[in-house]
Amino acid sequence: MKGILGFEYGIVQAPLGPDISGPELVAAVANAGGIGLLRCPDWECPDYLRELIRKTKTLTEKPFGIGVVLAFPHDLNIKTILEEKVAVLQLYWGDCSQELVDDAHFAGVKVIPQVGNVEEARKAVAVGVDAIIVQGREAGGHVIGKDGLFSLLPRVVDLVGERDIPVIAAGGIVDGRGYVAALSLGAQGVCLGTRFVATHESYAHPIYKRKLIEYEKTEYTDVFGRARWPGAPQRVLETPFFDDWRSLPAHENEVNQPIIGRSTIHGVEKEIRRFSGTVPNMTTTGDLESMAMYAGQSVGLIKEILPAGEVVKSLVEEAQALILQKFNNATTT
Ligand SMILES: Cc1cc2nc3c(=O)[nH]c(=O)nc-3n(C[C@H](O)[C@H](O)[C@H](O)COP(=O)(O)O)c2cc1C
Repeated sequence: MKGILGFEYGIVQAPLGPDISGPELVAAVANAGGIGLLRCPDWECPDYLRELIRKTKTLTEKPFGIGVVLAFPHDLNIKTILEEKVAVLQLYWGDCSQELVDDAHFAGVKVIPQVGNVEEARKAVAVGVDAIIVQGREAGGHVIGKDGLFSLLPRVVDLVGERDIPVIAAGGIVDGRGYVAALSLGAQGVCLGTRFVATHESYAHPIYKRKLIEYEKTEYTDVFGRARWPGAPQRVLETPFFDDWRSLPAHENEVNQPIIGRSTIHGVEKEIRRFSGTVPNMTTTGDLESMAMYAGQSVGLIKEILPAGEVVKSLVEEAQALILQKFNNATTT
């Protein structure tokens, strides 16, 4: 399988908010030849961020990156990321400006926005990004676009044309079949979120990981985190809690709701209110069953918690085998 952007493989481990893709997960993916992405906190914290990046560097000598959600304060964080010269700056939910791309390139950092429609992709191409992640509506976590991957991805591939900008597919990909399907549609890489939450190294709470194995269904909703991140729908597991509250009236949100638990997120202790958009991490205590649990539409295909390096390896091996079986013989059968 061909690598992208100087990495061995075109396999991206999505940044997983708020702190699910920590140094251990990112290093495991990097060591396996994939593109591991840390998740930057949603508040300015340059010193903490520097430590986070340095800790990851102690766990791998391979390049890795970090994702920043532009909807939250980020100027100092991005300055720090560029100073620390990670390999990749992934951006989501905001303006991927010319100035930002130029600054990153000056620091030797590659820029990869995640987009959810053709217009956003067009803007990204115009400012000279290094690759584009195309997120389909199947995706777990927050979902920026409305279209499914099968229809959106080839349109972005056509838009990019002959330019040297790899297009990376995100949404509902968990195995070699999804990888090959994305390649067939013109992608050069794939970006997986949910599959990497369900790994040994992810910082997700064991109960959340277990539910990814147990549950098969997801729903696109805006029940969680309405006040903190308005207008940002998400795809979640259809847990009994979600089923009970799926028709939450539009005027309700997490503010003034009861506190249902506590988490330490990037070193800061936080109260978790009902309908908060925060998924449970390793430190979370309280009523975990009632917390948001993000998952993509292919969650039903995830059958076990695996080491992250094995996820990367199986994707490559399965895709190679599939291509040999299904496509190399195509002219003779
Ligand atoms: C728990 C979780 C947290 C996520 N957090 C982020 C994030 O902080 N930034 C981002 O760009 N995407 C985030 N995503 C979305 C991924 O980038 C990606 O689009 C998605 O996971 C792909 O779909 P899949 O989960 O079916 O693989 C998150 C996804 C999940 C499951």
